[in-house]
Amino acid sequence: MEYRFGLIGYPVTHSLSPWIHSEFLQKAGVNGSYTLYEIKPDDTFDNKMEELKRENLNGFNITSPYKKTIIPYLDDLDKRAEAIGAVNTVVNENDKWVGYNTDGDGYLRSLTSVFPSVLTAVNKKIVILGAGGAARAILYTLFEQGFKNIDIANRSILSAVELKNAYNMKNTRTLSLLDAERTLGEYDIIIQTTSVGMGISEDEKIVEVNNLPNSSIVSDIIYKPVKTSFLQQAEKSGAQIHYGHSMLLYQAQYAFELWTGIRVPLEKMELDLLKKLEG
Ligand code: ATR
Repeated sequence: MEYRFGLIGYPVTHSLSPWIHSEFLQKAGVNGSYTLYEIKPDDTFDNKMEELKRENLNGFNITSPYKKTIIPYLDDLDKRAEAIGAVNTVVNENDKWVGYNTDGDGYLRSLTSVFPSVLTAVNKKIVILGAGGAARAILYTLFEQGFKNIDIANRSILSAVELKNAYNMKNTRTLSLLDAERTLGEYDIIIQTTSVGMGISEDEKIVEVNNLPNSSIVSDIIYKPVKTSFLQQAEKSGAQIHYGHSMLLYQAQYAFELWTGIRVPLEKMELDLLKKLEG
């Protein structure tokens, strides 16, 4: 059998997914390909979906800005993707497109690959910085996993409150970024989910990090740069850090698993991806 996978989004030309999935295919010992389908903002999405249906792929990923746009084109939606309200993976199940979201699971898998004890430490105090799509996926997965003490800090308090209400999270506090900055030391796990610190805003930090206990874990889901200014500061201030490229790999691992039933081991690939990202 020859698997055919792909990615839709805009832009997608610099995506690491073709490299990741061809490595997976090779490691899993199966044949296949992974093709980029760029859908430009002025393309008619309807027509593009008709073309994609005709391609009859075994599965495909969806990246920005189409993770919500894809939903009406699906035949079925996994419960988790429905709750998150975004789809990053479609599986072709008997000619039906079924939508999943592997972002939250990918995050949790990546975090627990480095810190396995977190999985059972559901009483840990967690703060999520940001209230966008990535925050939503991660928050839902953590909540589903049994973590109850999760606060949300965001520039727009309204978005943080909306997110809290969407999941009916009674214990959750919503904070301004300034309040979060002042109280970071109270949290066991700090998860940075915004785009601040990525690419051209490389020198920026969503909040300043000072004096964290060395038991605290600080995650940043940004993977370019690998070690964001936020992570650098967190490390200096005494915390243990968790990198974004690891989430990138694990969300892809889960997507590949949904398509093929094979869970590819990632240990060595993390290092290869790191080298690729660092050029
Ligand atoms: P994604 O789907 O990748 O998570 P998103 O939905 O656009 O992206 O969410 C972006 C997040 O980054 C939001 O939490 C946003 O804060 P607001 O809700 O206040 O807009 C946050 N964000 C983006 N740029 C920011 C900035 N310069 N300062 C603070 N927060 C920022």
